Amino acid sequence: MPTATRGKTTRYAIVGTGGRASGFIDSIVNTYGEHGQLVGLCDRNIGRVEYQRQRLAEQSGPDVPGFTDEQFDQMIEQTKPDVVVVLTMDSTHHQYIIRALELGCDAVTEKPMTTDDAKCRAIMDAVERTGRAVRVTFNYRFANDVSFIWRKLHEGLIGEVISVDMEYMLDVRHGADYYRRWHRFKDCSGGLLVHKATHHFDLVNWWLDAVPETVFAFGRRAFYGQENAARRGEHYSYDRYTGYPEAANDPFALDLTSKESLRKLYLDNEKYDGYRRDQNVFGPGVTIEDSMCLVTRYRTGVLFSYALNTFLPKEGYHVAFNGTKGRLTFNSGASPHIITGEGSETDIKYTRECYFHPQWGKPEKLEMPKLAKGGHGGADPVLHRQIFDPGAPVDPLRRDAGHEQGAASILVGIAANQSIATGKSVNIADLCPHLGDRKHLSELL
Ligand SMILES: NC(=O)c1ccc[n+]([C@@H]2O[C@H](COP(=O)([O-])OP(=O)(O)OC[C@H]3O[C@@H](n4cnc5c(N)ncnc54)[C@H](O)[C@@H]3O)[C@@H](O)[C@H]2O)c1
Repeated sequence: MPTATRGKTTRYAIVGTGGRASGFIDSIVNTYGEHGQLVGLCDRNIGRVEYQRQRLAEQSGPDVPGFTDEQFDQMIEQTKPDVVVVLTMDSTHHQYIIRALELGCDAVTEKPMTTDDAKCRAIMDAVERTGRAVRVTFNYRFANDVSFIWRKLHEGLIGEVISVDMEYMLDVRHGADYYRRWHRFKDCSGGLLVHKATHHFDLVNWWLDAVPETVFAFGRRAFYGQENAARRGEHYSYDRYTGYPEAANDPFALDLTSKESLRKLYLDNEKYDGYRRDQNVFGPGVTIEDSMCLVTRYRTGVLFSYALNTFLPKEGYHVAFNGTKGRLTFNSGASPHIITGEGSETDIKYTRECYFHPQWGKPEKLEMPKLAKGGHGGADPVLHRQIFDPGAPVDPLRRDAGHEQGAASILVGIAANQSIATGKSVNIADLCPHLGDRKHLSELL
């Protein structure tokens, strides 16, 4: 169901004006401008607020007032948004989601909804207390290929699904970027089992229409970080890349002067908060893992095994569904990501292969639909239409996700983090009783 209301101009405020904000701003102001109005921009870094205001001015767009994080309440009071779009660093989402609800707004938040179980429970409590709505933007659901898989599974091609195996690979260009940014700190991103894998866990929850129950995980950091480089005999004289000529031949280096959006968004704004977007991936202080695996049992009984590695020569994923009538396999590859300040990915080439292996017959290659144009394999524009266009068609695939579905996904990663720390399996119901005893994802908001 669209967040925008038919016959009314919906007022949006955005908190978090970094790389991801540009696409949301353009959708609200340009693509769906007749249905919505951008009324406020807020960020801890006022330089990035000004960057987005400048972008709007260059497009002859509206003059939207800017606010600092400390002025969030003032922004709501002055600009009276209907909806707050939360695009800040992951570990800070909860404070804006909860405050927006308390001040009478609905919230649309980027994934992951939040990064630990206490914050997750606080969001669930705030929804109950205020009666307002939270929507989580799981854009991956909206790509044509994953929707194709959903259809095949829901048509019963392989019968009842008994187990699922997924391996996700991040290559050294895309994967390394998590170790240059705030994502490298577990207390900022929740680690990649929360920050990144929330997409993957959400897809599996949605494909299976099931709520996860129990998680056991292992994880280690064995490639990135100063200690691993030192173990291999590598030593670096620079703890960031930009401005260090000796980093010129380092294949992991990112020079923030190499692209205008990187320079304007991050380098030029370091003076406000000291945040460095180009930290050495082999420098000190990294606290997230780079090799992770887990097993999960769903409340429906389905078993799920998952692996994520972030230092590979290849990008993509394999997923296999094992059912009572056969096996469905999907392999997706993506040529190296082009890293920009705004997450543009026009140069990514995708390869995709899907096979149905019937129990007794020959494997059959299934014709996949073409990917649409736009970010994340064409998923972002479809998601934005679902949010910002009140006339968007009813979605037969039920791809909208509220706070409960947002929780069902992050809780796999949060439980995995606890399992890694304790060596024990973790029950999701113990972390978040709000999901009740419902077995199917479609029973959750
Ligand atoms: N769905 C997807 O595919 C996808 C892709 C990229 C990013 N994301 C998510 O989008 C969000 C933004 O990511 P990004 O790539 O734009 O990161 P970014 O670092 O470019 O921007 C984050 C912004 O948050 C601001 N910020 C940090 N702490 C804050 C606080 N306490 N109060 C106010 N502002 C604060 C920073 O100053 C920065 O401008 C993240 O949650 C990220 O996980 C989702």
